[in-house]
Amino acid sequence: MLEKKKLLPRIIQGGMGVGVSSWKLAKTVAMYGQMGVVSGTALALTFARRLMDGDEEGFLEHALDHFPFPKIAQRIKEKYLKVVETQNKNKYKGVPMPSLDQSKELTELTVAANFAEVFLAKQGHQGLIGINFLEKLQIPTLPSLYGAMLADVDYVLMGAGIPVRMPYTISELALNHDVTLPIKIAEDGINEPTLSYFSPTDFADGEHLPQLRRPQFLAIVSSSTLATHLNRSSFGSPDGFVVEAPIAGGHNAPPRGKATYNEQGEPIYGNRDVIDIAAIKDIGLPFWLAGGYGSKEQLDYALSQGASGVQVGTAFAFCEESGFHPTLKERVLKAIGLKKAHVKTDALASPTGFPFKVVEVEGTIGIKEIGDQRTRICDLGYLREPYRKENGKIGYRCPSEPEKDYVAKGGKVEDTVGRRCLCNGLVSSMGLGQVRNNMSEELPLVTAGDDLKYILKFLKPGQKSYKAVDVLSHLLGQNLNLVV
Ligand SMILES: Cc1cc2nc3c(=O)[nH]c(=O)nc-3n(C[C@H](O)[C@H](O)[C@H](O)COP(=O)(O)O)c2cc1C
Repeated sequence: MLEKKKLLPRIIQGGMGVGVSSWKLAKTVAMYGQMGVVSGTALALTFARRLMDGDEEGFLEHALDHFPFPKIAQRIKEKYLKVVETQNKNKYKGVPMPSLDQSKELTELTVAANFAEVFLAKQGHQGLIGINFLEKLQIPTLPSLYGAMLADVDYVLMGAGIPVRMPYTISELALNHDVTLPIKIAEDGINEPTLSYFSPTDFADGEHLPQLRRPQFLAIVSSSTLATHLNRSSFGSPDGFVVEAPIAGGHNAPPRGKATYNEQGEPIYGNRDVIDIAAIKDIGLPFWLAGGYGSKEQLDYALSQGASGVQVGTAFAFCEESGFHPTLKERVLKAIGLKKAHVKTDALASPTGFPFKVVEVEGTIGIKEIGDQRTRICDLGYLREPYRKENGKIGYRCPSEPEKDYVAKGGKVEDTVGRRCLCNGLVSSMGLGQVRNNMSEELPLVTAGDDLKYILKFLKPGQKSYKAVDVLSHLLGQNLNLVV
């Protein structure tokens, strides 16, 4: 086993899906001595679409050339590189949706895409690279994790759920052992848990299995109760925690107790949601505070509370190296200056049922009227929920799909109200949105935390954009040099 890196970063650039914390952003942050985290969300899809777009800079092909399983890399190139849709004339041809009995093709694509993102982030420096997964998004987890580990990822971070089995699963995969994860099935009357399964040996199909290093695991939590529970788990403890307050960008933990809402329909957080940092410190593992920690004062505060540092998302999300499409970033920054971009904690938008931060900015489905006008279509499927059909088989449904389809699958019509297609919206925000055969375009959806209102502080006078190093210098209170 190779040795683990022991230095703890002061700043973790948070994982931001879909594609916002791109390998370019994570690599830049790591080159300045802090930890860059790529997003592992829906990578198979975005990887395939980038290949279809031609991979102009050649980075993905370069990564595929280093994939330990050359036959698989070749199959992926043949299937997706510069391949245009010929059948229904959408801009992008379809990529299979994740499911429990998904094709070998999708599993290969998922492993390779996660490998490529981490491989590219790790090129040319000795710094730390992590990958972020969402616990709620269960089906792609095992092949994604394996792909990231093939590229020697340093840290795995997981939030949006209770990632109780991850320490054990990561240890097993590091030994190239077969692994399973129980998958939550709605309306399941069956006592036996349904498992997702991944076998490195089957995947390698006779080829040599590379030796792997076990990455560290950080659980993203929003309460000391959950941190304590995870620390005592029989599946092993995380190696540390990211402790995230509900003003953070992306998904947020719902308020504890009976839900109440303000006039804008945002969930109201109260005293019970205040995180007991002292109790987290008492666990004795390293931790980083997140959610509104995008300033030197907040970093100093976190350190004074015994944290190893902070995890920051929003401040990095709109810098030049992030994966949001450049014109979208420019529009959002301009709108902030004009006070025309407002962050809403939307209790309904996400099909997961978790509150989700939506930036209400023109030209995106974050504006209610624009979101309501979108014709519902579910063709990416990352947030579909598996459910047990009457015939005993497993089906998949999403409250953002056409209402009648969802209801026909046993879903409640009230659960469809106000839902947005996060898959298509977030992918579009990276500039990879589908253009359908009727020429209608999937419009972007932008997420950001409450810190968005302070973001213009990173712009130097006369400039329209800022870089990741501007954020890092601001947070650390000093000019930085590359530490490569
Ligand atoms: C654009 C954006 C996307 C995000 N996506 C994810 C995600 O996919 N998974 C996750 O665990 N956290 C996600 N987050 C949360 C960040 O990782 C980080 O914890 C958070 O942004 C910290 O709070 P801040 O936004 O106030 O800096 C996202 C945040 C932003 C701004």
